[in-house]
Amino acid sequence: MTPLFERALKGEATERFPVWMMRQAGRYLPGYRAIRAKTPFLELCRTPELAAEVTLEPIELFDMDAAIVFADILLTADAMGVEVAFPNGGPKIQSPVRTEADVERVHDPDPSWMTSVAETVRILRRELPAEKALIGFSAAPFTLCAYMVEGGTSRDFWQTRAFAHANPAAFRRLLEKVADALVPYLQAQVEAGAGVLQLFDTWAGMADASLYRTAVLPAIERVLAGLGPDRVPVILFAGIGCSHRLELAAGTGVEGVSLDWATNLADAYARVGDRVRLQGNLDPTVLLSSPEHIQAEMDAMLGQVPAGKTHLVNLGHGVLKETPPEHVAVFAKAAQTFRPEALTS
Ligand code: CP3
Repeated sequence: MTPLFERALKGEATERFPVWMMRQAGRYLPGYRAIRAKTPFLELCRTPELAAEVTLEPIELFDMDAAIVFADILLTADAMGVEVAFPNGGPKIQSPVRTEADVERVHDPDPSWMTSVAETVRILRRELPAEKALIGFSAAPFTLCAYMVEGGTSRDFWQTRAFAHANPAAFRRLLEKVADALVPYLQAQVEAGAGVLQLFDTWAGMADASLYRTAVLPAIERVLAGLGPDRVPVILFAGIGCSHRLELAAGTGVEGVSLDWATNLADAYARVGDRVRLQGNLDPTVLLSSPEHIQAEMDAMLGQVPAGKTHLVNLGHGVLKETPPEHVAVFAKAAQTFRPEALTS
């Protein structure tokens, strides 16, 4: 049986729209917080039984149509010698990549980083019902490089932009090294049972138009080429503030583009036509309001989807840790009970 989410991503007309949430396994959930009280974040990512347990919590609570393997995009940086820690929630890189010599020191990943994530995927595929999709993921190259250069989260990622402009050849070399490392990692997740891959390019909106075309996109295309022609469907989270780049993101050849909350879905569908499926894009802060407001915003958002399109319902970015789980239930239910026009008429 092909899961609903995978059928929708392939462009098939489905009985309803599938739904899941970015960061659906996380700190807004009591079960997650109980495990984290005893287990440091990176240890949790690297312990397959525990990582699988937290992955399943939102499926069990909200009946989401897809599970996303619990891991983190920064595990790859760590495996390449750019050591990552999570001292108080946010990531911290002690020795960021800021010079050509630093780029040369970034090495091929230690393969052991793949094995625990692949094992988590294997456990999940065994435990998940067949109708639930299993999503593997990584960062897209630019976003991973941005963390490597910046050393952590940033308001404007100015060090990354400065490095890309001061030292374009070294920055491109870094993007290529990262792209080449991501390919076997993504393939290992597919071999272990992931039926869909998502690339997170969260900070691609920080790149200027020229950098986006000459470096960010080619790095994504390098990953896709590396995965080969027989790959599973790929969704690109195009990034915050990247809705004006929808056509470019769609032009990479991915099957799905995940949008932030800035775009009206009717406009987005008008722009891409049948080239890709779209995912998103409720503002995550809507889930902090009231059940009535969440329902109204969901009705408005789903009402923007043109007749005949199968939308992949999600948020415009990760769920916030302040979100009441009951509000997530309202979000999931609103998606699952919505009947697309083409089916009701
Ligand atoms: O979606 C899921 O439920 C799967 C797990 C997942 C995590 N991180 C777990 C996590 C996924 C898909 C990610 C991706 C990720 N990680 C991204 C891309 C998506 C996005 O949100 O933009 C990024 C940029 C990261 C890097 C990262 N990891 C940051 C910036 C932080 C700290 C800030 C924050 O929002 O918490 C993390 C930590 C992290 N990754 C947590 C979780 C559940 C919280 C850690 C904790 O328990 O303290």
